[in-house]
Amino acid sequence: MQGMALVGCGSAVPAASVTNQQLSARVDTNDDWIRSRTGIGARRIAGPLESLTTLATRAAQAALDHAGWRAEDLDLILLATSSPDDLFGTAPRVQGALGASRAVAFDLTAACSGFLFSLITAAQYLGSGSMRRALVIGADQLSRWVDWDDRRTCVLFGDGAAAVAVEACPAAETGLLGFRMRSDGSRNACLTLAQTDGHELLLDGITAQCGGFAPIQMNGQEVYKFAVREVPAILADLLEGTGTAAAELDWLLLHQANQRILDAVADRFAVPHSRVLSNLAHYGNTSAATIPLMLDEAVRDGRVRPGHLLASSGFGAGLSWGAALLRWGGPEP
Ligand code: UT7
Repeated sequence: MQGMALVGCGSAVPAASVTNQQLSARVDTNDDWIRSRTGIGARRIAGPLESLTTLATRAAQAALDHAGWRAEDLDLILLATSSPDDLFGTAPRVQGALGASRAVAFDLTAACSGFLFSLITAAQYLGSGSMRRALVIGADQLSRWVDWDDRRTCVLFGDGAAAVAVEACPAAETGLLGFRMRSDGSRNACLTLAQTDGHELLLDGITAQCGGFAPIQMNGQEVYKFAVREVPAILADLLEGTGTAAAELDWLLLHQANQRILDAVADRFAVPHSRVLSNLAHYGNTSAATIPLMLDEAVRDGRVRPGHLLASSGFGAGLSWGAALLRWGGPEP
């Protein structure tokens, strides 16, 4: 079994930033509530000339450039998203836009766990020796799917895309030192973006369902309790399984949903808050994009350096959650 090196990253966010203050003109909320309960200060919202495809393609191209690769070098493009431009798949659009003519491209849906699940999936292809170079993209445009009159959810989410370039390498040099993945569909109703139940009488005795999705619905308190219980548990299991002490970690790279969740996880492992990566203040929760978006920012500003060890965890709808122990292997910024 080969290893997988993380050798480049890139990101793209929409041009428009909406602050909490601005949002309070649209829905009954305020900056103080949003900041104190979530840590969010602003979020990016994709406009009419932007799309999941354009954001994901920009992020992917930036990751290719960072790794020093050409698009034709790619064997695989995995796009983690829950908000595709096309339910048949958005990854092939990205592949076409990049000109990655040799790559197979497909979507993977696991909500906010999607990026980590995709990274781990890519590692299986690279590990088996069947592929050498892949791009793993996390991208979401949940502003399409929020109810702008529901203050409990609309203030949380933003749009964005980010990508990581990964390459097969000798097992001893792997950047994926261990992982865990979990699902619990019995708690699915806690967080949904579900098919609506519209239907149409097609023929006598035959009724067909109509396509369409209801806006995001979330039981925030249940999801919060799930996160502060399961994320420390899966990380503890991963650290124990890989023989890693929390003190060895350079960074905690968690899904960006709520600053209080980040702080609670850090406290559980006695990781100083200065070692917890957070960009919630600028982007809110960009779902599948949060982890690579945060990684790209921290790589480019020099916080995450080659050889650094990161414990990462994604969690959210499904319910789904996962964790990975990563060693950054990309170039200096
Ligand atoms: O990415 C997937 C993973 N997602 C998560 O991990 C999210 C987990 N959940 C959370 O982060 C938190 O539960 C929220 C941030 C969503 C909510 O925070 P909370 O402390 O659990 O608030 P709450 O839902 O218990 O609401 C408390 C109060 C309510 O008022 P009453 O009923 O006590 O009078 C809400 O109506 O806050 C009110 N409220 C708001 N007030 C102003 C809820 N949303 C807002 C708002 N602005 N935007």
